[in-house]
Amino acid sequence: MLTVALPKGELLKNSIRLLQAVGLDFSAFLDSGNRQLQIVDASGKAKGLLVRGQDVPVYVEYGQAQIGIIGYDVLREKQPQVAHLVDLHFGGCRMSVAVKASSPYKSPLDLPAHGRVASKYVNCAREYFQSLDLPVEIVPLYGSVELGPITGMSEAIVDIVSTGRTLKENGLVEITTLYESTARLIAHPLSYRLNTGNLHQLVEDMRSHVLSAVS
Ligand code: PRP
Repeated sequence: MLTVALPKGELLKNSIRLLQAVGLDFSAFLDSGNRQLQIVDASGKAKGLLVRGQDVPVYVEYGQAQIGIIGYDVLREKQPQVAHLVDLHFGGCRMSVAVKASSPYKSPLDLPAHGRVASKYVNCAREYFQSLDLPVEIVPLYGSVELGPITGMSEAIVDIVSTGRTLKENGLVEITTLYESTARLIAHPLSYRLNTGNLHQLVEDMRSHVLSAVS
């Protein structure tokens, strides 16, 4: 039986909708009373695992799930050994550098050398500032990174912006965008190569559904 790793949070609803469109029903994960982390879909064809977004590639990399759905931001940060199969065209957001609206920094190059940048995406942040040749200290955080500049702990943040509401309501502004991100379908490379559980058909069904939805 195929196993699908599904991300908790923002991407869950659209992920479940897409899987429903190809005949796999994991909608029980959306029930507010549900506490089960593993369910078999109604047809008995596949199993779903409900995991933290950052853990989706881990289950896929180790082969406990043959496919998974995750944001490109996580793939870029963690660089897991998984096959990147389909851009699913939902969960659109961008990775940006943001500062306090009242700060004098209008571009990343205005930030002071040896200043601090708070982020959940430390690899991405480090790589970006290295590419600018600007030596900054990256401060790793697990969430609510907007508090970095608000409290004065850091001059800037590198974080995901979706609607922009969180930045606005916390008095921050973007000064540059590093890249755009959407949800992606990933697979365990060997399972995909061996077509375990007729994986190719499922992937093609998902690809066709996504293409018909965007065209
Ligand atoms: C993400 C991100 C921003 C927010 C952006 O946080 O880190 O804080 O969403 O969304 P917006 O532009 O639509 O306001 P998340 O909800 O994952 O919470 P966290 O900060 O606790 O990780």
